Amino acid sequence: MNAIFHLNGKVIETERLILRPFVNSDLDDFYEYAKVEGVGEMAGWHHHESIEKSQEILNRFILEDKTFAIVYKQNNKVIGSLGVEMYGMEEALTEFCNYYGREIGYVLAKDYWGKGIMPEAVKAVIDYLFNELNLDFLTCGYYDFNTQSKRVQEKCGFKPYRKLVMETRLGTKEPGVLNLLTNPEKQIKLKFSHPETLIYAE
Ligand SMILES: CC(C)(COP(=O)(O)OP(=O)(O)OC[C@H]1O[C@@H](n2cnc3c(N)ncnc32)[C@H](O)[C@@H]1OP(=O)(O)O)[C@@H](O)C(=O)NCCC(=O)NCCS
Repeated sequence: MNAIFHLNGKVIETERLILRPFVNSDLDDFYEYAKVEGVGEMAGWHHHESIEKSQEILNRFILEDKTFAIVYKQNNKVIGSLGVEMYGMEEALTEFCNYYGREIGYVLAKDYWGKGIMPEAVKAVIDYLFNELNLDFLTCGYYDFNTQSKRVQEKCGFKPYRKLVMETRLGTKEPGVLNLLTNPEKQIKLKFSHPETLIYAE
C-alpha cells in the first residue's frame, strides 16, 4: 500500500545538492527549466508555455508537500524536482498490500544533464525513505524511449518489475517499464499478482 508521506520541512544535503521543499520564490528557476521543450515531455507532461502554468504546478507542489526542490549548491539555483509520489494501480498490485511503498519521479534542467546529478539526488532520497522512514519498497517507471531515465534507475539499484502501458498527461499511451527496489534491510517476500507481466522478481 501507499505509505503516508509528507516532506514536513525535510532537508537532505549531498555533495553537490540540497533537497528541500519548494517555496514560492522558486518560481523563476522552476519556469526556466519547465519551459524548455523536450524536458517535461520525457516525463509525460507538456513543457510550460507560460509562467502562470509553472505557478499553478508550484502551488500544487507546495500544497501537496511531497516534492523536493533540487538546489545546485554551486549557484543556489533550483535545477529540478524529485517527487515521492503515490504509486499507481494500488488495487491491481495486490502483492504490495502488506508492504508500505511510494513511487519516485524526477525532472532535471537540461543544462545539467549527464553529470550524475539525478542519481545523486535519488540515492539520497532512497536512503532517507528506507533507513529513516523505514519504507518497504519503492517503484520508479520510465517510458521505453527514455533511456536516460532508465540509466538513472539502474544506477540507483532499481530492477525491472513489469512492462506497462502508461497514460501520459499529454493524452497519449506509452509503453514502459515499472522498476522496483525493495528495502535491503528487510525480508520482503512479494507475492506476484500478475505473473504474466512480470519481468523480474528478486
Ligand atoms: C532522466 C534525467 C533526470 C537524468 O538525469 P541526469 O542527472 O542527467 O542522469 P545521468 O547524469 O546519470 O545520465 C543518465 C544518462 O543520460 C544520458 N546522457 C548523459 N548526458 C546527456 C545529455 N547531455 N543529453 C542526453 N542524454 C544524456 C547518458 O546515457 C547517461 O547514462 P550514462 O551515465 O550511463 O552515460 C534527465 O535526463 C531528465 O531530467 N530528463 C527529462 C525528464 C525525465 O525524463 N524524467 C524522468 C521521467 S521517468
